[in-house]
Amino acid sequence: MSSIPDITPTDEAFMHRCLELARRGAGSVSPNPMVGSVIVHGGRIIGEGWHERFGGPHAEVNAIGSVPDHGLLTESTLYVNLEPCSHFGKTPPCSDLIVSKKIPRVVVGCLDPFAKVSGRGIATLESAGVEVKVGVLAGESERLNEAFITSHRKGRPFVSIKVAQTLDGRIATSMGVSRWITGEESRTEVHRLRSRYDAVLSGSSTVIADDSELTVRRCEGRQPLRVLLDRQLRVPVESKVFNDQARTLVFSSGQASDPCRIAQFEARGIEVVQVGESPGGLDLHQVLGELHRRQVLSVMVETGNRLAAAFVRERLVDKIQMFIAPRLFGGDGLASFGTLDVLLPEQSVELRFTEAGMSGQDFMLEAYVI
Ligand SMILES: NC(=O)c1ccc[n+]([C@@H]2O[C@H](COP(=O)([O-])OP(=O)(O)OC[C@H]3O[C@@H](n4cnc5c(N)ncnc54)[C@H](OP(=O)(O)O)[C@@H]3O)[C@@H](O)[C@H]2O)c1
Repeated sequence: MSSIPDITPTDEAFMHRCLELARRGAGSVSPNPMVGSVIVHGGRIIGEGWHERFGGPHAEVNAIGSVPDHGLLTESTLYVNLEPCSHFGKTPPCSDLIVSKKIPRVVVGCLDPFAKVSGRGIATLESAGVEVKVGVLAGESERLNEAFITSHRKGRPFVSIKVAQTLDGRIATSMGVSRWITGEESRTEVHRLRSRYDAVLSGSSTVIADDSELTVRRCEGRQPLRVLLDRQLRVPVESKVFNDQARTLVFSSGQASDPCRIAQFEARGIEVVQVGESPGGLDLHQVLGELHRRQVLSVMVETGNRLAAAFVRERLVDKIQMFIAPRLFGGDGLASFGTLDVLLPEQSVELRFTEAGMSGQDFMLEAYVI
């Protein structure tokens, strides 16, 4: 397997195109990864494809299928942002297809994160005499499929916390009012973000305070699963979070939930899953474990300061997406994050900023937990 250093601008440019194509599968391929592929002959793209929907043909199959003259494949390079598969899933292995079409060169963005198959697709290609280059735009390729990769590597969904706060770090006034802090553009952007996640998760206090619906309404897009953490099933069944615009899954505590109340939810088709408790609320590891079991790859947490802090304390957060409005609520407002037990700066939760920009009059930041 050749190593990364000799990336040529051409390989990068074609890999960029793969990533662009792959993004078209956002919202339709989960729990599969987003994959794009291009086929290049004599420096010119002669075929391209992407994984369009879960269960459908893989990107390489679509790219190869789009080439009008298959005779050219024997002199072409296939680019793909994720290692070609080597196993029979819903479709036959892509590495076998590439070998059977006698494509002499393959350029790969990143390896498959699934330990049992990682590197096997490459090995199949190399043992058939295909020249393989791995790691072109590896960072971008991994980032595009961060949910898929996290799910395989950590055995839980990728977790992002969305916060809409004032410049002085407040998510609600001293009266608990949070509507609205940010402007129209940011609120539309939040709906766009929701449509890219498999699930949106909130806590009982926020849903009671805001009667939040947690759906995608301000733009086109898939409705994520709504996940509500409500230990004692306090949220009224008439709340918007239970309307028929999307599915809702409720987590409650086995000890506290009243069977009559559960029956009331179930009569309305709302599933209630019981998990254990940990100090301050439900056991978040169990919650994410159950979501993982249900093939939920990514979760956007949209909640208040206590539950947000609990996710951070449990080290279950991968990313923070923050919208900062140009206003102040003052120290008596509700801070974005509750207690994190940080006594010294060196105990702080460290982040790495990856994006910053404007969203209307608001500031938009993205940071990853290191
Ligand atoms: N600006 C924003 O971005 C934004 C977003 C959301 C909310 N808000 C505001 O935030 C306020 C609510 O915040 P909050 O801190 O009171 O509540 P919260 O963090 O939204 O929810 C806390 C509740 O979640 C439940 N929970 C279940 N498991 C938990 C766990 N492991 N750890 C912590 N909580 C768990 C508990 O209720 P049970 O015991 O009932 O299960 C707990 O009381 C509201 O004023 C709302 O408007 C602002």
